Amino acid sequence: MNILGIESTAHTFGVGVVKDGEVLSNERDTYMPKQGGIIPYEAATHHYSLAPGLIKSALQKAGVYLKDIDLFAFSQGPGLLPCLKAGFQITRFLSNKFGKKMVGVNHCIAHIEIARKSTKLPDPVMLYVSGGNTQVVTYSKGRYIIFGETQDIGIGNLIDKIGRRIGIPFPAGPRIEQLAKSGKNYIKLPYAIKGMDVSFSGMETAITRAIPNHRSEDLCFSLQETSFAMLIEASERAMAYCKKESLVITGGVAANDRLNEMGAIMCKERGAKFVRMDRSLSGDNGAMIAYTGYLMKDYKQKDLTPKPSYRTDTVEIKYR
Ligand code: ATP
Ligand code: FE2
Repeated sequence: MNILGIESTAHTFGVGVVKDGEVLSNERDTYMPKQGGIIPYEAATHHYSLAPGLIKSALQKAGVYLKDIDLFAFSQGPGLLPCLKAGFQITRFLSNKFGKKMVGVNHCIAHIEIARKSTKLPDPVMLYVSGGNTQVVTYSKGRYIIFGETQDIGIGNLIDKIGRRIGIPFPAGPRIEQLAKSGKNYIKLPYAIKGMDVSFSGMETAITRAIPNHRSEDLCFSLQETSFAMLIEASERAMAYCKKESLVITGGVAANDRLNEMGAIMCKERGAKFVRMDRSLSGDNGAMIAYTGYLMKDYKQKDLTPKPSYRTDTVEIKYR
Protein backbone atom coordinates (compact mmCIF):
# COMPACT_ATOMS: atom_id res chain seq x y z
CA MET A 1 0.00 0.00 0.00
CA ASN A 2 1.42 3.41 -1.04
CA ILE A 3 0.63 6.43 1.11
CA LEU A 4 1.48 10.05 0.37
CA GLY A 5 1.59 12.27 3.46
CA ILE A 6 1.47 16.07 3.58
CA GLU A 7 2.69 18.17 6.52
CA SER A 8 1.78 21.87 6.62
CA THR A 9 0.95 22.88 10.21
CA ALA A 10 3.39 25.80 10.52
CA HIS A 11 6.73 26.77 8.90
CA THR A 12 7.43 23.51 7.09
CA PHE A 13 5.75 22.04 4.03
CA GLY A 14 6.69 18.37 3.83
CA VAL A 15 5.79 15.49 1.55
CA GLY A 16 6.59 11.86 2.36
CA VAL A 17 5.88 8.57 0.65
CA VAL A 18 5.49 5.38 2.70
CA LYS A 19 4.99 1.88 1.33
CA ASP A 20 3.49 -0.70 3.70
CA GLY A 21 4.80 1.28 6.68
CA GLU A 22 8.34 1.85 5.31
CA VAL A 23 9.56 5.35 4.45
CA LEU A 24 10.55 5.70 0.77
CA SER A 25 11.02 9.46 0.57
CA ASN A 26 10.77 12.58 2.71
CA GLU A 27 11.01 16.01 1.07
CA ARG A 28 10.51 19.36 2.78
CA ASP A 29 11.06 23.09 2.67
CA THR A 30 10.76 25.59 5.52
CA TYR A 31 9.37 29.11 5.24
CA MET A 32 11.72 31.63 6.83
CA PRO A 33 10.16 34.95 7.94
CA LYS A 34 12.19 37.93 6.69
CA GLN A 35 12.17 39.29 10.24
CA GLY A 36 10.31 38.52 13.46
CA GLY A 37 7.96 35.56 13.86
CA ILE A 38 5.81 33.57 11.45
CA ILE A 39 3.18 35.40 9.37
CA PRO A 40 0.55 32.67 8.84
CA TYR A 41 -0.66 33.83 5.40
CA GLU A 42 2.91 34.14 4.13
CA ALA A 43 3.66 30.61 5.35
CA ALA A 44 0.51 29.29 3.63
CA THR A 45 1.52 31.02 0.37
CA HIS A 46 4.92 29.35 0.69
CA HIS A 47 3.20 25.97 1.09
CA TYR A 48 0.87 26.40 -1.94
CA SER A 49 3.68 27.54 -4.18
CA LEU A 50 6.15 24.80 -3.22
CA ALA A 51 3.64 21.95 -3.09
CA PRO A 52 3.78 20.84 -6.77
CA GLY A 53 7.60 20.64 -6.82
CA LEU A 54 7.88 18.85 -3.47
CA ILE A 55 5.15 16.33 -4.35
CA LYS A 56 6.93 15.62 -7.62
CA SER A 57 10.35 15.12 -6.04
CA ALA A 58 8.95 12.95 -3.19
CA LEU A 59 7.27 10.69 -5.78
CA GLN A 60 10.37 10.56 -7.97
CA LYS A 61 12.65 9.67 -5.04
CA ALA A 62 10.18 6.98 -3.96
CA GLY A 63 9.88 5.64 -7.52
CA VAL A 64 6.08 5.79 -7.29
CA TYR A 65 3.55 7.43 -9.67
CA LEU A 66 0.76 9.61 -8.31
CA LYS A 67 -1.82 7.24 -9.82
CA ASP A 68 -0.35 4.41 -7.68
CA ILE A 69 -0.95 6.19 -4.36
CA ASP A 70 -3.64 4.27 -2.43
CA LEU A 71 -4.19 6.73 0.42
CA PHE A 72 -3.57 10.47 0.94
CA ALA A 73 -2.78 11.59 4.50
CA PHE A 74 -2.56 15.17 5.77
CA SER A 75 -1.82 16.96 9.01
CA GLN A 76 -5.25 17.93 10.40
CA GLY A 77 -3.92 19.94 13.38
CA PRO A 78 -2.90 21.42 15.74
CA GLY A 79 -1.42 24.35 13.84
CA LEU A 80 -2.07 27.68 12.14
CA LEU A 81 -5.36 27.71 10.25
CA PRO A 82 -4.09 29.17 6.92
CA CYS A 83 -1.25 26.60 6.88
CA LEU A 84 -3.58 23.73 7.80
CA LYS A 85 -6.01 24.78 5.07
CA ALA A 86 -3.22 24.62 2.47
CA GLY A 87 -2.42 20.99 3.34
CA PHE A 88 -6.11 20.07 3.54
CA GLN A 89 -7.01 21.61 0.16
CA ILE A 90 -4.05 20.11 -1.67
CA THR A 91 -4.80 16.66 -0.21
CA ARG A 92 -8.53 16.91 -0.97
CA PHE A 93 -7.74 17.88 -4.56
CA LEU A 94 -5.49 14.83 -5.01
CA SER A 95 -7.93 12.50 -3.24
CA ASN A 96 -10.82 13.66 -5.47
CA LYS A 97 -8.77 13.61 -8.67
CA PHE A 98 -7.54 10.05 -8.16
CA GLY A 99 -10.60 8.75 -6.34
CA LYS A 100 -8.61 7.56 -3.30
CA LYS A 101 -9.38 7.90 0.40
CA MET A 102 -7.90 10.70 2.48
CA VAL A 103 -7.11 10.52 6.19
CA GLY A 104 -6.59 13.37 8.69
CA VAL A 105 -3.65 12.84 11.06
CA ASN A 106 -3.01 14.53 14.42
CA HIS A 107 0.41 16.19 14.02
CA CYS A 108 1.53 15.44 17.61
CA ILE A 109 0.59 11.78 17.29
CA ALA A 110 2.56 11.63 14.04
CA HIS A 111 5.68 12.87 15.90
CA ILE A 112 5.04 10.14 18.49
CA GLU A 113 4.37 7.27 16.07
CA ILE A 114 7.41 7.97 13.90
CA ALA A 115 9.54 8.08 17.06
CA ARG A 116 8.25 4.68 18.16
CA LYS A 117 8.98 3.31 14.72
CA SER A 118 12.42 4.94 14.49
CA THR A 119 13.54 3.66 17.92
CA LYS A 120 11.65 0.32 17.85
CA LEU A 121 10.61 0.97 21.46
CA PRO A 122 7.07 -0.43 21.78
CA ASP A 123 5.80 1.44 24.85
CA PRO A 124 8.06 4.33 25.93
CA VAL A 125 7.32 7.56 27.72
CA MET A 126 7.51 10.16 24.97
CA LEU A 127 8.98 13.60 25.46
CA TYR A 128 7.58 15.62 22.54
CA VAL A 129 9.44 18.89 22.19
CA SER A 130 8.96 21.34 19.33
CA GLY A 131 8.26 25.00 18.64
CA GLY A 132 4.58 25.00 19.51
CA ASN A 133 4.36 21.94 21.75
CA THR A 134 6.02 20.53 24.84
CA GLN A 135 4.35 17.41 26.19
CA VAL A 136 5.24 14.32 28.20
CA VAL A 137 3.01 11.62 26.78
CA THR A 138 2.25 8.02 27.76
CA TYR A 139 -0.05 5.44 26.24
CA SER A 140 -2.94 4.03 28.22
CA LYS A 141 -6.07 2.17 27.15
CA GLY A 142 -6.51 3.44 23.61
CA ARG A 143 -5.30 7.02 24.13
CA TYR A 144 -2.09 8.99 24.27
CA ILE A 145 -2.36 10.69 27.66
CA ILE A 146 -0.64 14.03 28.24
CA PHE A 147 1.09 13.40 31.56
CA GLY A 148 2.63 16.86 31.70
CA GLU A 149 2.97 19.82 29.36
CA THR A 150 4.02 23.42 29.14
CA GLN A 151 1.71 25.87 30.83
CA ASP A 152 2.76 28.63 28.44
CA ILE A 153 5.18 28.52 25.49
CA GLY A 154 6.80 25.51 23.83
CA ILE A 155 10.52 24.92 24.46
CA GLY A 156 11.35 25.50 20.76
CA ASN A 157 9.45 28.76 20.89
CA LEU A 158 11.53 29.84 23.91
CA ILE A 159 14.71 28.95 22.00
CA ASP A 160 13.56 30.84 18.88
CA LYS A 161 12.48 33.94 20.87
CA ILE A 162 15.81 34.17 22.70
CA GLY A 163 17.56 33.51 19.39
CA ARG A 164 15.82 36.45 17.78
CA ARG A 165 16.85 38.73 20.67
CA ILE A 166 20.53 37.80 20.33
CA GLY A 167 20.47 38.08 16.53
CA ILE A 168 19.94 34.46 15.44
CA PRO A 169 17.30 33.95 12.73
CA PHE A 170 14.60 31.24 12.85
CA PRO A 171 15.04 28.35 13.52
CA ALA A 172 17.50 29.26 16.28
CA GLY A 173 17.86 25.76 17.80
CA PRO A 174 20.96 24.54 15.94
CA ARG A 175 22.93 27.79 16.47
CA ILE A 176 21.89 28.05 20.14
CA GLU A 177 23.08 24.48 20.59
CA GLN A 178 26.44 25.34 19.03
CA LEU A 179 26.89 28.45 21.21
CA ALA A 180 25.90 26.49 24.35
CA LYS A 181 28.82 24.11 23.73
CA SER A 182 31.22 27.02 24.39
CA GLY A 183 29.32 28.25 27.47
CA LYS A 184 31.31 28.19 30.72
CA ASN A 185 29.46 30.24 33.30
CA TYR A 186 26.07 29.07 34.48
CA ILE A 187 23.59 31.92 34.97
CA LYS A 188 20.91 31.02 37.49
CA LEU A 189 17.47 30.89 35.82
CA PRO A 190 13.96 30.11 37.13
CA TYR A 191 13.47 26.34 37.30
CA ALA A 192 9.68 26.12 36.92
CA ILE A 193 8.23 22.67 37.23
CA LYS A 194 4.74 22.68 38.71
CA GLY A 195 3.33 19.26 39.47
CA MET A 196 3.81 17.46 36.18
CA ASP A 197 3.81 20.64 34.09
CA VAL A 198 6.60 22.99 33.09
CA SER A 199 6.61 26.73 32.42
CA PHE A 200 9.11 28.75 30.37
CA SER A 201 7.83 32.33 30.41
CA GLY A 202 9.74 33.24 33.61
CA MET A 203 12.92 31.90 32.05
CA GLU A 204 12.26 33.93 28.91
CA THR A 205 12.01 37.14 30.98
CA ALA A 206 15.12 36.30 33.04
CA ILE A 207 17.26 35.56 29.97
CA THR A 208 16.02 38.67 28.16
CA ARG A 209 17.02 40.79 31.17
CA ALA A 210 20.42 39.09 31.34
CA ILE A 211 21.29 39.64 27.65
CA PRO A 212 23.14 42.99 28.08
CA ASN A 213 25.38 41.64 30.86
CA HIS A 214 26.38 38.17 29.67
CA ARG A 215 28.02 36.36 26.75
CA SER A 216 25.60 34.66 24.34
CA GLU A 217 27.47 31.38 24.90
CA ASP A 218 26.72 31.49 28.64
CA LEU A 219 23.10 32.50 28.06
CA CYS A 220 22.54 29.61 25.63
CA PHE A 221 24.34 27.15 27.90
CA SER A 222 22.22 28.21 30.90
CA LEU A 223 19.01 28.14 28.86
CA GLN A 224 19.69 24.56 27.72
CA GLU A 225 20.88 23.24 31.08
CA THR A 226 17.87 24.64 32.97
CA SER A 227 15.06 23.98 30.52
CA PHE A 228 16.29 20.50 29.55
CA ALA A 229 16.70 19.50 33.22
CA MET A 230 13.04 20.47 33.76
CA LEU A 231 11.94 18.36 30.78
CA ILE A 232 13.98 15.35 31.84
CA GLU A 233 12.67 15.62 35.42
CA ALA A 234 9.07 15.62 34.15
CA SER A 235 9.87 12.64 31.90
CA GLU A 236 11.42 10.71 34.77
CA ARG A 237 8.37 11.31 36.93
CA ALA A 238 6.14 9.99 34.15
CA MET A 239 8.32 6.88 33.83
CA ALA A 240 8.19 6.21 37.57
CA TYR A 241 4.47 6.89 37.89
CA CYS A 242 3.38 4.94 34.81
CA LYS A 243 5.95 2.17 35.32
CA LYS A 244 7.41 2.60 31.84
CA GLU A 245 10.87 1.27 31.15
CA SER A 246 11.97 3.43 28.23
CA LEU A 247 12.07 7.00 26.92
CA VAL A 248 12.09 8.56 23.45
CA ILE A 249 12.46 12.22 22.57
CA THR A 250 10.69 13.50 19.47
CA GLY A 251 9.81 16.82 17.77
CA GLY A 252 12.17 19.45 16.29
CA VAL A 253 14.10 19.98 19.55
CA ALA A 254 14.95 16.24 19.61
CA ALA A 255 17.78 17.16 17.19
CA ASN A 256 19.67 18.58 20.20
CA ASP A 257 22.67 16.50 21.40
CA ARG A 258 22.63 17.80 24.97
CA LEU A 259 18.93 17.02 25.47
CA ASN A 260 19.49 13.46 24.25
CA GLU A 261 22.56 13.12 26.47
CA MET A 262 20.55 14.19 29.52
CA GLY A 263 17.78 11.73 28.60
CA ALA A 264 20.30 8.93 28.21
CA ILE A 265 21.96 9.69 31.58
CA MET A 266 18.62 9.74 33.41
CA CYS A 267 17.57 6.43 31.85
CA LYS A 268 20.91 4.80 32.64
CA GLU A 269 20.58 5.83 36.29
CA ARG A 270 17.12 4.24 36.48
CA GLY A 271 18.13 1.10 34.59
CA ALA A 272 15.74 2.09 31.79
CA LYS A 273 16.24 2.15 28.05
CA PHE A 274 16.93 5.24 25.95
CA VAL A 275 17.19 5.16 22.16
CA ARG A 276 17.88 8.30 20.15
CA MET A 277 15.56 8.70 17.20
CA ASP A 278 16.60 9.30 13.59
CA ARG A 279 17.20 13.04 13.25
CA SER A 280 15.74 13.20 9.73
CA LEU A 281 12.37 12.12 11.14
CA SER A 282 12.21 14.13 14.40
CA GLY A 283 11.33 17.61 13.05
CA ASP A 284 8.21 18.39 11.01
CA ASN A 285 8.08 16.15 7.94
CA GLY A 286 5.67 14.46 5.54
CA ALA A 287 6.89 10.90 6.15
CA MET A 288 5.56 10.93 9.73
CA ILE A 289 2.14 11.95 8.39
CA ALA A 290 2.20 9.23 5.71
CA TYR A 291 3.33 6.63 8.28
CA THR A 292 0.58 7.57 10.77
CA GLY A 293 -1.89 7.63 7.86
CA TYR A 294 -0.83 4.05 7.19
CA LEU A 295 -1.59 3.09 10.82
CA MET A 296 -5.00 4.82 10.46
CA LYS A 297 -5.82 3.33 7.05
CA ASP A 298 -9.00 1.63 8.31
CA TYR A 299 -10.33 4.66 10.22
CA LYS A 300 -13.68 6.04 9.13
CA GLN A 301 -13.46 9.77 9.81
CA LYS A 302 -16.56 11.93 9.55
CA ASP A 303 -14.82 15.26 10.08
CA LEU A 304 -11.76 16.00 7.96
CA THR A 305 -11.74 19.79 8.39
CA PRO A 306 -8.57 21.43 9.78
CA LYS A 307 -8.45 21.60 13.58
CA PRO A 308 -6.10 24.37 14.85
CA SER A 309 -6.41 23.18 18.49
CA TYR A 310 -6.46 19.42 17.89
CA ARG A 311 -5.43 17.79 21.21
CA THR A 312 -3.26 14.66 21.39
CA ASP A 313 -5.50 13.02 24.00
CA THR A 314 -8.74 13.39 22.01
CA VAL A 315 -7.71 10.86 19.36
CA GLU A 316 -8.91 7.29 19.76
CA ILE A 317 -5.99 4.93 19.03
CA LYS A 318 -7.42 1.78 17.43
CA TYR A 319 -4.26 0.26 15.94
CA ARG A 320 -2.37 -0.49 19.19
P1 ATP B 1 4.93 21.61 16.31
O1 ATP B 1 3.75 21.96 15.47
O2 ATP B 1 5.03 20.16 16.60
O3 ATP B 1 5.08 22.47 17.50
P2 ATP B 1 7.07 22.96 14.91
O4 ATP B 1 6.30 23.74 13.91
O5 ATP B 1 7.63 23.67 16.04
O6 ATP B 1 6.19 21.73 15.34
P3 ATP B 1 9.35 21.17 14.55
O7 ATP B 1 10.13 20.89 13.32
O8 ATP B 1 8.73 20.01 15.24
O9 ATP B 1 8.27 22.25 14.10
O10 ATP B 1 10.27 21.96 15.58
C1 ATP B 1 10.94 23.16 15.25
C2 ATP B 1 11.66 23.67 16.50
O11 ATP B 1 12.82 22.86 16.78
C3 ATP B 1 12.16 25.11 16.35
O12 ATP B 1 11.78 25.82 17.50
C4 ATP B 1 13.68 24.95 16.29
O13 ATP B 1 14.42 26.05 16.80
C5 ATP B 1 13.88 23.70 17.15
N1 ATP B 1 15.16 23.03 16.90
C6 ATP B 1 15.64 22.57 15.73
N2 ATP B 1 16.89 22.06 15.88
C7 ATP B 1 17.22 22.21 17.19
C8 ATP B 1 18.37 21.93 17.99
N3 ATP B 1 19.45 21.37 17.46
N4 ATP B 1 18.34 22.23 19.30
C9 ATP B 1 17.23 22.81 19.85
N5 ATP B 1 16.14 23.11 19.16
C10 ATP B 1 16.11 22.83 17.85
FE1 FE2 C 1 5.97 19.52 14.81
